[in-house]
Amino acid sequence: MKVMVIGGGGREHAIIKALKKSPAVDEIYALPGNGGIAADARCVDIAAKDIDSAVRFAQENKIDYAVVAPDDPLVLGAVDALTAAGVPCFGPDKKAAVIEGSKVFSKALMKKYGIPTAAYESFSDMEKALDYVRGRTPPIVVKADGLALGKGVVIAESTEEAEKAVREMMQDRKFGDSGLNVVIEEFLTGPEVSVLAFTDGKTIAPMVSSMDHKRAHDGDEGLNTGGMGTIAPNPYYTPQIAERCMKEIFVPTMNAMNAEGRTFKGCLYFGLMLTPSGPRVIEYNCRFGDPETQVVLPLLQSDLFEIMRAVTEERLAEVPVRFGDGAACCVIMASDGYPASYKKGFEITVPEGLDSEVYVAGAVLNGEGKMMTSGGRVLGVSAVAATLSEAIGKAYADVEKISFENAYYRHDIGKRALEAPGC
Ligand code: AMP
Ligand code: GLY
Repeated sequence: MKVMVIGGGGREHAIIKALKKSPAVDEIYALPGNGGIAADARCVDIAAKDIDSAVRFAQENKIDYAVVAPDDPLVLGAVDALTAAGVPCFGPDKKAAVIEGSKVFSKALMKKYGIPTAAYESFSDMEKALDYVRGRTPPIVVKADGLALGKGVVIAESTEEAEKAVREMMQDRKFGDSGLNVVIEEFLTGPEVSVLAFTDGKTIAPMVSSMDHKRAHDGDEGLNTGGMGTIAPNPYYTPQIAERCMKEIFVPTMNAMNAEGRTFKGCLYFGLMLTPSGPRVIEYNCRFGDPETQVVLPLLQSDLFEIMRAVTEERLAEVPVRFGDGAACCVIMASDGYPASYKKGFEITVPEGLDSEVYVAGAVLNGEGKMMTSGGRVLGVSAVAATLSEAIGKAYADVEKISFENAYYRHDIGKRALEAPGC
């Protein structure tokens, strides 16, 4: 089978490496892929958001199956367009992708169907939003409604800071139309857990849980990033909590989307916070997480391609979704300065014989075929071992063997997880 994967980051590299293991997959194309993905797939110079070109490419090259990985093309309707052109796809259609594309939508969905989340109000009028903020006690959480590259959430420590965030989003249009509406919500506390789940609208199969590390610096300091590292499984997510989430959150969300006429087929990402009063949904994403995928898929024992096809054909209940007993840790090697400004164009040296998988996020090949840094997040170094502490040790040992100028990484990926009771 000829498979194409839309996207070009570390997550897509991990998806492609997992798909390659399937006996049914003969050829993989990546649109656009990157300088590291080029070792595992044929990269095609079509941007992830260029849906018309993707459809044309799929038809001209007789692609049998497409995986749409990033949020933008999903929210823009890539799956709708490819499906209409006769290409079966993995990923939600535009109507279902709104679960990530609009926080106003997802919060209203949770309220309507009693799915536990932070208490909130949403606003389209700035003066009303400002009045509301002035009546709250900080910290105050202000979120832009739409996609904002993971930067649309402000945890304001003072009323003034919250007012500033509202003004920047609604008046200054810091995130363009994404900030026309805002959600202001209650500040929650507790360990965070990411759960990715396969669903075809009839069955929901959660994958192994994970933990992201979103802040740029050690000790959860610094700016929010796309994610600086992950571990799986998440030791705070006990079997009892998992059972509760299945009953109170996962199945109700699948059913709620069906009831709204927005059946979700693909990978539904639950960003959860385990608060003292129980698990709460912080956010939904309509796709695999990045870098969660880089620790979840290495632990998957079943055939990813078979699962994906079963999701598309609404027969997920028939296929096994099994994970190994081990643990995984992924350390992101970034360009120093990320997520603000950073220099790029440095040669990356990855020695042979590493214990870890190296998933490439931001690199291009130069004229001599050498990998050069081209993004904020450059590599994800992902190790699997019997225990979490061994996986962390293995990943960091390999990080030290990889070099490029201006490299930056956190030194404490997995530290909080190791502090979990019973870990
Ligand atoms: P999001 O982009 O919605 O995942 O938010 C980014 C990060 O902000 C989350 O991973 C949380 O750490 C934090 N966050 C979001 N909403 C809340 C909330 N209601 N209370 C506390 N922290 C939050
Ligand atoms: N790692 C967080 C996300 O993919 O949104």
